[in-house]
Amino acid sequence: MHTRSARALTREFDTPHFRHALSQFATGVTIITTRLSDGTLLGLTASSFNSVSLEPPLVLWSLGNRASSLEAFTGNSHYVINVLGLNQTGLAERFSRRIKNRFEGVDYTLSRTGNPILKGVSAWFECHNRSRYPEGDHVIFVGEVERCEAYPQAALVFHGGQFATTQAAEK
Ligand SMILES: Cc1cc2nc3c(=O)[nH]c(=O)nc-3n(C[C@H](O)[C@H](O)[C@H](O)COP(=O)(O)O)c2cc1C
Repeated sequence: MHTRSARALTREFDTPHFRHALSQFATGVTIITTRLSDGTLLGLTASSFNSVSLEPPLVLWSLGNRASSLEAFTGNSHYVINVLGLNQTGLAERFSRRIKNRFEGVDYTLSRTGNPILKGVSAWFECHNRSRYPEGDHVIFVGEVERCEAYPQAALVFHGGQFATTQAAEK
């Protein structure tokens, strides 16, 4: 159900201010991949990934309405969420740039459903494209995880508009 907020954008609450506040929330970084029926590979960098449910195993992420891959991700039955590790800043940048073939020179294998699993990631989740919820200028995707794997290492994080990595916290 939608409820309309009475709040209008003001000088105290405009989009850059909102974006700046959001940037203080540290996230992990993922690359979400899928494959078209003609074999074309698609993928984009996304930090909106999060867990939803353990039983059934559900995750979510959101994709901008203007993303060129929106139609593919909406229509395909499966995608893979690749969680980036310590040394994968270059991949995160590459998969957010407007370049023709983001997969050129990138090492990957194909998941059981034929979607790219990137080499060196700290985890991957192969998802059935369970449901989608258009909200504002994004679409929220809920994926049902059919398979996943973990390769523990320090994580790539995004905070304050910059990439960083995790280290063991001191007590
Ligand atoms: C760290 C980082 C996180 C991002 N997270 C998201 C996200 O969660 N959702 C999204 O739609 N775009 C996100 N983007 C932007 C997309 O990666 C970028 O717009 C990309 O060009 C979209 O690809 P497409 O238009 O080919 O689908 C993020 C970019 C960066 C650098």
